[in-house]
Amino acid sequence: MTVRVALVTGGTGGIGTAIVKRLASLGHKVATNYRDESRAKTWASQLKSQGVNVALVEGDVGDVAAAESMIKAVEQQLGPVDILVNNAGITRDTTFHKMSALQWQEVINTNLNSCFNMTRPVIDGMRARKWGRIVQISSINGQKGQYGQANYAASKAGMHGFTISLAQENAKFGITVNTVSPGYVATEMVMAVPEDVRNKIAAQIPVGRLGEPDEIAYAVAFFTDDEARWITGANLAINGGQYMGW
Ligand code: CAA
Ligand code: NAP
Repeated sequence: MTVRVALVTGGTGGIGTAIVKRLASLGHKVATNYRDESRAKTWASQLKSQGVNVALVEGDVGDVAAAESMIKAVEQQLGPVDILVNNAGITRDTTFHKMSALQWQEVINTNLNSCFNMTRPVIDGMRARKWGRIVQISSINGQKGQYGQANYAASKAGMHGFTISLAQENAKFGITVNTVSPGYVATEMVMAVPEDVRNKIAAQIPVGRLGEPDEIAYAVAFFTDDEARWITGANLAINGGQYMGW
């Protein structure tokens, strides 16, 4: 296997940590961003004690200039980015008739504009080197919509529109671009949903439980493999059977 440089945004979160660990376990050199330095350092030293080394770069994925600096910092520490996983994301759940402009903008900026911000500075290098893997972490709720998530569902559906356009433009350059659409996974994001609502949602999952972060990381690793070279523009639903749309 060729060792690659991988950048996982939001790598300190629930799903991000699993992706970081899995890509590192394959031998890749892995970086992530952080916003809170002391929390990130604690997180990184926990991983180090498990034998996982992660390069940390500071910055907000919703900020164009910060994104460019993060990419430069990764390049300086590890080399050019071969694998980019656009994973950082937030929710600001509320029904649309109560939603503020800020709740709309924060979610679109962090979840969707971040894909532009982080991908734009790496795409030229990937095209020049004729190899790249870009994976968007979208959501089941980008596929089916969700009560209380007009902002989030719009951002997540937008991520796949981004995927399928980039996939077409970059296919000839050895770059694949794919989306993973997780269902409800037991991370802080889902634990923030009121317990009664969460229990009702969990009851709708045919497999009978919430997902585990590593079950999402498995799919990310699959898309980033050398042998996944003919898989591009795909959207892989991983949701315990909760939504089986095409
Ligand atoms: N379908 C139909 N009706 C629903 C509903 C649903 N799914 N959810 C709530 N309602 C109804 C309630 O029963 C209630 O009805 P009554 O007024 O008749 O009693 C009404 O909506 C409440 O509406 P409000 O505008 O007053 O909403 P609220 O302030 O109580 O909050 C909510 C509503 C924010 C949507 C809350 O129910 C909630 O947090 N739901 C979970 C949303 C969710 O799934 N978020 C996912 C977060 S994790 C994630 O995003 C990761 C991922 O990708 C999967
Ligand atoms: P999480 O535990 O809350 O982690 C989110 C991560 O994103 C954190 O590392 C967070 O860093 C980072 N982040 C948020 N805003 C950022 C910003 N502006 N700039 C840089 N980093 C930022 O969430 P998760 O459950 O692992 O979710 C990861 C991704 O999967 C998200 O895109 C989410 O929408 C998607 N997803 C999750 C589920 C699920 O059920 N959990 C389902 C489908 C899709 P800070 O600590 O600095 O905030």
